Amino acid sequence: MPAETGRLLIINGPNLNLLGTREPEVYGTATLADVEEICRTAATAHGLAVEVVQSNHEGELVDAIQSVRGSAERPGADGIVINPAAYTHTSVALRDALGAVARPTVEVHISNVHAREEFRRHSYISPVVDAVIAGAGLTGYRLAVDLLAERLQG
Ligand code: DQA
Repeated sequence: MPAETGRLLIINGPNLNLLGTREPEVYGTATLADVEEICRTAATAHGLAVEVVQSNHEGELVDAIQSVRGSAERPGADGIVINPAAYTHTSVALRDALGAVARPTVEVHISNVHAREEFRRHSYISPVVDAVIAGAGLTGYRLAVDLLAERLQG
């Protein structure tokens, strides 16, 4: 196995811990563990290390974004995949955190947010990320990892 050439942080927002049982007609039956496996498999194929986090708390998500800068205790990350879930539509704090850390970032939504309620069409996050993937199901996470690998290594 080649040495890892970079690190990705995969961040999942509120209620995504319930994937598999939460509104399966919208989000499918795969679980957060499946998301982790998809990301790990794709990242490993590109020689990237990956960490997957989930929180239901806005401040913890801000802390996770800031953690990409690294510290004495833990390594940072070179790129971010984020599904901010409901905070997509409400959170200036997450937007500011992403703007502050300035890492290549892909926003992922499992469902097609543009084909749902009106309030889901607005994202506070999209203006500060490199790409947005919505409606591709869990494949969106793999596409996001592939894109970040290309951006980081290409
Ligand atoms: C979501 C879409 C959001 O509108 C919703 O609040 C979520 C999940 C998605 O992955 O499709 O929790 O981000």
